[in-house]
This record gives sequence, structure tokens and C-alpha cells, in this order.
Amino acid sequence: MHVKVLTPASSANLGPGFDTLGLALKIYNELEIDTETRIPTIEIEGEGGAALPKGKQNLSYRAAAKVFEAVGEAVPPLYIRQLNRIPIASGLGSSAAAIVGGLMAANHLLGSPLAVDRLLGLAVEIEGHPDNVAPALLGGLVVSGTDSGKVTWYQIQPDNPPYVIVISPDFHLSTSRARQALPRRVLLADAVHNMSRTAFLLNCFSSGDYRYLRFAMEDKLHQPYRARLIPGLNAVIDACYEAGGIGAALSGAGPAVIGFVDRSSKEKAVETAAKMQHAFAVHGIKSRPILTEICTTGAVLAG
Ligand code: HSE
Repeated sequence: MHVKVLTPASSANLGPGFDTLGLALKIYNELEIDTETRIPTIEIEGEGGAALPKGKQNLSYRAAAKVFEAVGEAVPPLYIRQLNRIPIASGLGSSAAAIVGGLMAANHLLGSPLAVDRLLGLAVEIEGHPDNVAPALLGGLVVSGTDSGKVTWYQIQPDNPPYVIVISPDFHLSTSRARQALPRRVLLADAVHNMSRTAFLLNCFSSGDYRYLRFAMEDKLHQPYRARLIPGLNAVIDACYEAGGIGAALSGAGPAVIGFVDRSSKEKAVETAAKMQHAFAVHGIKSRPILTEICTTGAVLAG
């Protein structure tokens, strides 16, 4: 049997929604699994092709194996082929996409015994937090939280969705390093600041009225601390607004930056991306601009 899954990138936090919000993006990794093989094989092309593990530590393999184990089946030899388009260790959910792809593929190969909530639970067991795996699996903007291991979530399909710009610098930052930069305790005033912004942000995306998006994407809980690890971060965010963008923040744990531009002009979105890229360049950082959109579907079976 053969299966192919397309899994989207995701941008967590969106400024104030630290460990809580994630947005699926139309940048897809492809994962194919074939069971007609006697020799377990993993081939990876594209982003991280040389660096990512090709044995039992491979995240897609681990995720697929977890589904077989969850239904009490032995893991057969798998031929796995990945075509990666999501930059790795950049704050764009590349590991979440690898996990979700593996779970979806194995579940399909087994006749879809596991419901979506079970898949999400398995994804969180591997990833450790739901804010990337939830949008990668479900699509749209997903709000999530965990309580004693159980994930509770709801999905917003953004109204009047803006263009999305991702500026991906040419250096990697591991999530663990980016988390070590954070304080263990926060000020009550900073928590209140973020609660207010998060509520505004959810209203922007559910109403399609983005007037307050800039205000809504301000953060005091993680971005100011992580800015020290990402030269030019604040300048890139400022450049987005100076060019007419409507919102910008660090993407997940970084170092990529996400920006939003209203749908009125694709040209304006392209120009805004160039200005954001230039702001990184001024700080000596090479980067790639990616113009994309919000992915509404989450991971899908293909071909
Ligand atoms: N919410 C997580 C963080 C995202 O900011 O550390 C990691 O991808």
C-alpha cells in the first residue's frame, strides 16, 4: 500500500498567544509511505535533507510507528520519502509537519482507525506542545490548551484572510535554546498585556476586521527576550509596518518573522516582504522571503 500526505507549515504564538495559538500556512511538506518493501528506507529531499535523521529517530517514522503501536499492530518495514519545503529549526513548524504527516499516513494505511483528537493527542506526546501540531493537522487558526495531557482546541477559519509573509533567516535557532532565554516568572502587568492582545487578535481573525491587528500582535512574554538571539528582529517587524503591513511578529520560537498584508494588493505584499528582508540584511543576516496564505485544510491525503 502507498499513501502520500501534504502537511502545512505553521506559525505559533502570533505575538501574544505564547504556547496557545498557531496558524497553518500554505507551505507544504510531502510525505510518502510505501509498505511494499522489505528494507526500511528513509529518503529526504529539500529542506534539512542532509541533516535530518534517516533511521528510527526520524520524526515521521516515529509518528507512523506510534499509530501502529496504538492499534496493536507490528510496524512493518516502511519505505518513507520526504520532500521538505518548510525551513527547519526556523519557527515554522517543520517538526510538527513531520509528525502530523507520519500520523496521517500511518492512520490511512491502517484504514483510519484513529479519530482526529486521538491523532492530535499522539502528536502532542511526541512534540510536547500543541500549538504547531494542532494547526498542521486541522488547518486555520487553532487555539489550544492542555490539561493533564488532554488537548482542548478550537479552530477559527480567518475571515477576509490577509496575505502572509514569512521571512526566514539563514540561521537556525532550536526551540529549546529559544525557550532557555525566557524568564521563569512574569509580571502580572505583562500577563494582562498579553491577555488583552490575544483577545483582540482572535477577534481580528474571526471578524475579518484587522484594524487592531498591530495592537493585537504586541507581546511581552517571549519576544523581547528572544530578540537578543535574533539580530534585526525588531527592525524587521518595524519594516513590515513602515511598508504598510497590518501585523508582524516572531514566528513561533523564531528566527523566522511572520507578517500580514491586506488582500488589496499582491504587489504591496511583495514590496513589504522585500523591505523586511532588507531590514535583516542591514543587520548582516541573509534571509529568504516567502509570500504565502493561510492554509484552511491542515494535512491532506494527496494522489
Ligand atoms: N510556542 C512555542 C515557543 C513554539 O514559542 O517556544 C515552538 O515552536
